Amino acid sequence: MTSKTQDDDKEVPVAGVIGWPIGHSRSPLIHNFWLRKSGLKGSYVPIAIPPEALEEEVNRLKQQGFSGFNVTIPHKEAIFALVDEKDEAATAIGAVNTVALKSDGTLRGLNTDGLGFIENISSTKTNWKTGTACVIGAGGAARAIVYGLAKAGAPRIEVFNRTEERAQNLVADFQDLGTEVVALPMKTLSERMKDASLLVNTTSLGMTGEPPLDLDLTALSQDALVTDIVYVPLETALLKSARERGNEVVDGLGMLIHQARFAFKAWFDVMPEASREVRDLLVVDLEKSK
Ligand code: ATR
Repeated sequence: MTSKTQDDDKEVPVAGVIGWPIGHSRSPLIHNFWLRKSGLKGSYVPIAIPPEALEEEVNRLKQQGFSGFNVTIPHKEAIFALVDEKDEAATAIGAVNTVALKSDGTLRGLNTDGLGFIENISSTKTNWKTGTACVIGAGGAARAIVYGLAKAGAPRIEVFNRTEERAQNLVADFQDLGTEVVALPMKTLSERMKDASLLVNTTSLGMTGEPPLDLDLTALSQDALVTDIVYVPLETALLKSARERGNEVVDGLGMLIHQARFAFKAWFDVMPEASREVRDLLVVDLEKSK
């Protein structure tokens, strides 16, 4: 008979990330680092689940003693119907990125993306709330960011998207948060930047392998904060040109780390740090996969 060792405990999956495919996820790096750092038992594992097997596989995870899991493409909307309750953010955004398994066996769906975004930009010196927030894009990431900005007290949010109707649909969902949220034509963005204290790209434009995001930043105040959700490359063309003209910039890796902090807290009741160590771990991994 073999006895259980401390090393075995380290390997028992206690949390994970579900997606299809899932090999690209960097969440295991982050959460396994924090599990070790916090002295907690168990590991965080990637779990590939095809869309048609979602319900069955989620039920299986419930039986396995997981504390919870992250949810990524393509399950963020479908998981919505499978959880027993949702937090305010998940309900408002219409997507769940984190599921916590409660002690009574029920599932609580959370969305930590908006909070993660705000925490990331709040670590800067720039006062991003003095003017408007110009948000580029109207997909799932934009929904989380608009929600986060409104909850954090942005005075006015302007949303610009290639497909304007999608921006209009998005803003219609965020009219009751005490912030003015409007959709404006993409062609007005370069002019509207003049009132912005925050400019954020929420699209995949500028990511390695995707078309570039071509923006004229001439009208943007040098006091505005510029940020991008793209983190491959770490310094996108948008961040580079903003930095070179004197704007403070924040890259997308911080949002990834900060949204993970809130998930970790929900599962293990420990708030981990967005330390230099965890960031360096990710930067090294990004370099390796270039
Ligand atoms: P996510 O959930 O990551 O936000 P998504 O819902 O597919 O992904 O949204 C992608 C966003 O990037 C959208 O705002 C999309 O614009 P459309 O709504 O017009 O499709 C934007 N996007 C993607 N490729 C683009 C391109 N080549 N030019 C302009 N916008 C693009």
